[in-house]
Amino acid sequence: MTIDVRPKTDRGFFAEIYGANLKDCSDADFAIIKDAHLSHGVIAIRDQDLTPAQQISFSKRFGPLSIHVLEEQLLAGHPEILLVTNKKENGRFLGIPDLGRKWHTDQSYEERPALGSLLYALEVPEDGSGDTWFADMTAAYEALPAEERRRLDEFEAEHRYDHKHKNFELSDNQIDRLPGVLHPLVRTHPETGRKALYLGVQLVKRIVGLAADESDRLLADLHTHCTKPEFVYCHKWRKGDLVFWDNRCTMHAAQPYDDTRFTRHMHRTTVIGDQPC
Ligand code: OGA
Ligand code: MN
Repeated sequence: MTIDVRPKTDRGFFAEIYGANLKDCSDADFAIIKDAHLSHGVIAIRDQDLTPAQQISFSKRFGPLSIHVLEEQLLAGHPEILLVTNKKENGRFLGIPDLGRKWHTDQSYEERPALGSLLYALEVPEDGSGDTWFADMTAAYEALPAEERRRLDEFEAEHRYDHKHKNFELSDNQIDRLPGVLHPLVRTHPETGRKALYLGVQLVKRIVGLAADESDRLLADLHTHCTKPEFVYCHKWRKGDLVFWDNRCTMHAAQPYDDTRFTRHMHRTTVIGDQPC
């Protein structure tokens, strides 16, 4: 069967991929998938049936995987997998039930944030809720006037993990491992060479060198700009989807669902990226 890549927007942002078998992916098919990931920013590979080991081994073909700092939310025996789930065992969530509800890019609070994340849907809400929204940060940057782009190119922003969680607490050791970091506000993609805004609503605390109110205002304006409908695509999950987004040029935000009535159970692997520049 040949792989079919179907872009979902006029600009080509986000593509669905049909006919791939990630359990046993030839070098030729892998090259098509990798190319689609770079060209479309986010790909949803449909109709997969993967064990944790198969997901890990496919993900590793893109680079070394990161082990998330939230070690209690990792899959037993497979620490490369972060559990994004509202399933419970003995009254405790098995993983993170409400990960990434605000616009963000994964692990931007680290010196070498995630290149990409691969989220695999094992169970999705039956009413079709629990979408994920994706924003095209390259297009959002390129849509700004040249003068504004030149101004933004010079800034750095501080990214820091939010230490407060509704569903669990971080240990002192975890907090120590999450001190925050400065990254350029505009980063150049190491593979495509294109510039993109590098933002995140909760994770980006301030723009270095600006007064607090000016920094807050600029960040709010930029987030409003990047999340305009023309830059956003909404993915509706199906069981068996493996969605792979490029954190270097996209943001995403998980949409709410009724977690008292429905189960949403996902496995995430994360490929380590370069230091943004
Ligand atoms: C993530 C994330 C969004 C979702 O896994 O990094 O933000 O819709 N997930 O679950
Ligand atoms: Mn995320």
